[in-house]
Amino acid sequence: DEFEGEGVWRYSAALPFEEGVSLPEGNTPLHEMPRLRESVGVNRLRVKHEGMNPTGSFKDRGMTVGVRVARELGVERLACASTGNTSAALAAYGARAGMETLVLLPSGKVAAGKIAQASLHDARILEVDGNFDACLDIVQELAADGDVYLLNSLNPFRLEGQKTIGFEILERFHADYGTYPDRIVLPVGNAGNTAALFKAFRELVTAGELDVDDVPALTGVQAEGAAPMVEAIEDGADEVRRWEEVETRATAIRIGNPVNAPKALPGIRETGGTAVAVSDAEITDAQRALAAEGVGVEPASAASVAGLRKLRDDGVVGADEDVVCLTTGHLLKDPDAAFAAGDDPEPVANDADAVRALLE
Ligand code: F0G
Repeated sequence: DEFEGEGVWRYSAALPFEEGVSLPEGNTPLHEMPRLRESVGVNRLRVKHEGMNPTGSFKDRGMTVGVRVARELGVERLACASTGNTSAALAAYGARAGMETLVLLPSGKVAAGKIAQASLHDARILEVDGNFDACLDIVQELAADGDVYLLNSLNPFRLEGQKTIGFEILERFHADYGTYPDRIVLPVGNAGNTAALFKAFRELVTAGELDVDDVPALTGVQAEGAAPMVEAIEDGADEVRRWEEVETRATAIRIGNPVNAPKALPGIRETGGTAVAVSDAEITDAQRALAAEGVGVEPASAASVAGLRKLRDDGVVGADEDVVCLTTGHLLKDPDAAFAAGDDPEPVANDADAVRALLE
């Protein structure tokens, strides 16, 4: 009840410390989207824009806790594998803590803004000739040998911080409407957020703060070219089969081995949620629809809205539902994708009449 810290740290009662290595993070907007709501056809639609965190993605919520833990442990070198955003956040939070950082990236498959961040915040950047899953295999091996401290979402302290996405959504939604959302739709890569939100809801239910019937249905969205979680949900499987070949323009979720699946699959099932795959074209359409209402996101983030639209069209999501879509990263993370989805600038002569002529 009594909140003291800022952003993520307002929820320190649910976190392992009172404060972290902070920039600060969290307290992101829960945008109303009247035109998108109308076109999708649901009762309520809000967009939780995690791109508004200090480094432009939700990863900051995990790093503020994870890097604090690393400092506490006195480790020398922080490391992660990344499709980009984790590396940007680790580089910034490592720099904040005055610690050395190492990031392994899949060569040629990381958006420009993210590499720029890791570079300027002075991470040691290694580009691996392999996909994200291969990078994570390597970092896990280094961590097991004690060469580095692992700050991927396999690190449970990361997920502690990311629980606060769930706390903020429920708190804001309830303050505005006196009710909780029926469903939260989110993009899935390693399924860290899915696991973190499920843990947040379980803790609230256990504490008697949330009725189990009010827990939102966790609904995961993957790109068609990287959809092992969707496959497992559709097959009713207990384990997720690793995809060796993955491809999507939404490079943030170009992941074939969702390492948090053991925590996330029960989250989707027990909350009555589901998982769905969307095409790159559907992702781009959703990115444009969000942008047309002022909300700029990277492709992976738009997958949530694309997935909601698909599930609504298929009748899986009802017209009476109150839905929150999570948008995980900022538009500026992937300028190339934004240019590809948007209109090109038009050259014009240095002359007002020439401009007028073009406008006609
Ligand atoms: N959206 C964005 C923008 C991401 O960067 C990621 C993951 C996800 C969604 C998926 O989240 O793993 O919790 O299911 N990016 C990681 C990275 C893999 O390295 O930046 P998840």
